[in-house]
Amino acid sequence: MAIRVAIGTDHGGFALKKPLADYVKELGFDVLDLGTNSEEACDYPDFAEAVGKAIINGDAELGIVLCGSGVGASVAANKIAGIRAGVCHDTFSAHQCREDDDVNVLCMGARVIGPSLAKEITKTFLDAKFSGAERHRRRLEKVAKIERENLLQKTT
Ligand code: RB5
Repeated sequence: MAIRVAIGTDHGGFALKKPLADYVKELGFDVLDLGTNSEEACDYPDFAEAVGKAIINGDAELGIVLCGSGVGASVAANKIAGIRAGVCHDTFSAHQCREDDDVNVLCMGARVIGPSLAKEITKTFLDAKFSGAERHRRRLEKVAKIERENLLQKTT
């Protein structure tokens, strides 16, 4: 079965949503489109939350959240226990964040990069795999400990 990628955006990232969703499908992944569906102003936390919850609930394995800068989306998504979201506007970050940090939500800003680079970053992110190296597991366990000790656990 194909890996499912949840995608969500506010109005600031809307221009990238369809080109990216179509491209992710072309790459052979399933896409779960969680909105928004127009350029009307809306709030990025709503879509970051929807994508994060889809992953935590098992409706998707990976996520892409877009906004104007990618930053608000990543801040919001990282408030969900179990979500590791990162802003990537270059391909090095896009593969390293999966290989080393096991990032599960890619965040990008449609006011920062255009569709061609966003597609390249997306492909790089989706093709990369967590290395599983002991040092990265150790660091991720420390991240999880911060989460357990400092973040409320409620995800529904
Ligand atoms: C919306 O105007 C904008 O603030 C939002 O898309 C995002 O860039 C926040 O980080």
